[in-house]
Amino acid sequence: MSTVHHIAVIPGDGIGTEVVSEGVKSLNTLSEISGNLRFEFEYFPWGSEYCLQNGKMMPQDGIEALKNFDAIYLGAVGDPRLPDDVTLHGLLLPIKFGFDLYVGLRPVFLFPGVECPLAGISESEIDIVVVRENTEGEYSNVGGMVGIEDRELAIQSALFTRKGIERIITFAFEYAREKKRTKVTSITKSNAQRYGMVLWDKIFKEVSSRYPDIRTESKLIDAACMDVVRNPKGYDVIVASNLFADILSDVTASVTGGMGLAPGASFNPKDKTYPGFFDPVHGSAPDIAGKGLANPIAAILTARMMLDYLGEREAANLLYQAVKKNLAEKKVRTMDIGGRSKTNEVGDDIVRILKSY
Ligand code: NAD
Ligand code: IPM
Ligand code: MN
Repeated sequence: MSTVHHIAVIPGDGIGTEVVSEGVKSLNTLSEISGNLRFEFEYFPWGSEYCLQNGKMMPQDGIEALKNFDAIYLGAVGDPRLPDDVTLHGLLLPIKFGFDLYVGLRPVFLFPGVECPLAGISESEIDIVVVRENTEGEYSNVGGMVGIEDRELAIQSALFTRKGIERIITFAFEYAREKKRTKVTSITKSNAQRYGMVLWDKIFKEVSSRYPDIRTESKLIDAACMDVVRNPKGYDVIVASNLFADILSDVTASVTGGMGLAPGASFNPKDKTYPGFFDPVHGSAPDIAGKGLANPIAAILTARMMLDYLGEREAANLLYQAVKKNLAEKKVRTMDIGGRSKTNEVGDDIVRILKSY
């Protein structure tokens, strides 16, 4: 008997639609070749175009409509015709907060066949996992705006709770242990942000004392951004607040070949009542949208993380091997990593490789 995985697909905006179809293509191929892996995809046309027509990014009962799926697969949202805070607070953030998907997992690896933009770094030498706190911190919707003209005033607060900090740091250590990784780096800005980040540092020390087998390090965000570029081999698992991990996940992506290769997953490791949420690190890339130039590998590796989450280890591994082979062959690749192929040609090449297994 095979289980059917119910997946909500939200292609979204810009290149989101282009890359998601390649991810779904690889999932359908895995289903074809395995015989007992089945998916039911339901598409939701939510996003900026929907918002322009309906006044909101998703219907009022959008979260309700998603809650019984096993997973949500999203391309990206963001459109120059709408303010970004409206699009993101209208769709992406309500899903992560609403379902309490407190772990954001964003792994990067310097794949053989991909050139590192940094001198003196060889393939496979960068292997970093950013663990992002997904449900509080700087993204808590706490604050407001009042006044007009020279009386305009805005307050933006960050919310940090012991529970929120402790559970994400504990996850980072548990993940490191399970994956036989040896170091966890915590990143804050506790020299300037005196309350939330000081609490974070204190809890990092407490939790790390329970994992004597794992090396630890604490760094400040400014120094860490510099150091990830200067010495990426010095990083293994990184744990950080919502905003700092967001910034760091673009930095780690860029030292391993760019946004086109960086996948992401958001989930609650303790409670799968609600669906996990899977979207690449990159955005809707309006600068290249609609031209078939987007690299679909980030979205395909995101689909692989979704398979892992769904307990489909074998299929996840096959897909990973197919991506590795495509990159190592250096033949069918998009412009961002030095190729001339179109988005769908890369997806087709992954299908070809999967069918050869
Ligand atoms: P972006 O990630 O969309 O693009 C940054 C740069 O990386 C661009 O030059 C783009 O062309 C390139 N790039 C990104 N993905 C690529 C891919 N798959 N292949 C090749 N090149 C790729 O970031 P941005 O320009 O800051 O944001 C654009 C919009 O997306 C904004 O509205 C932003 O709010 C939104 N955004 C959404 C998400 C999401 O939905 N998960 C994530 C990030 C940004
Ligand atoms: C990401 C994005 C989003 C985030 C934005 C668009 C709100 O940058 O997924 O990395 O910061 O969560
Ligand atoms: Mn980001």
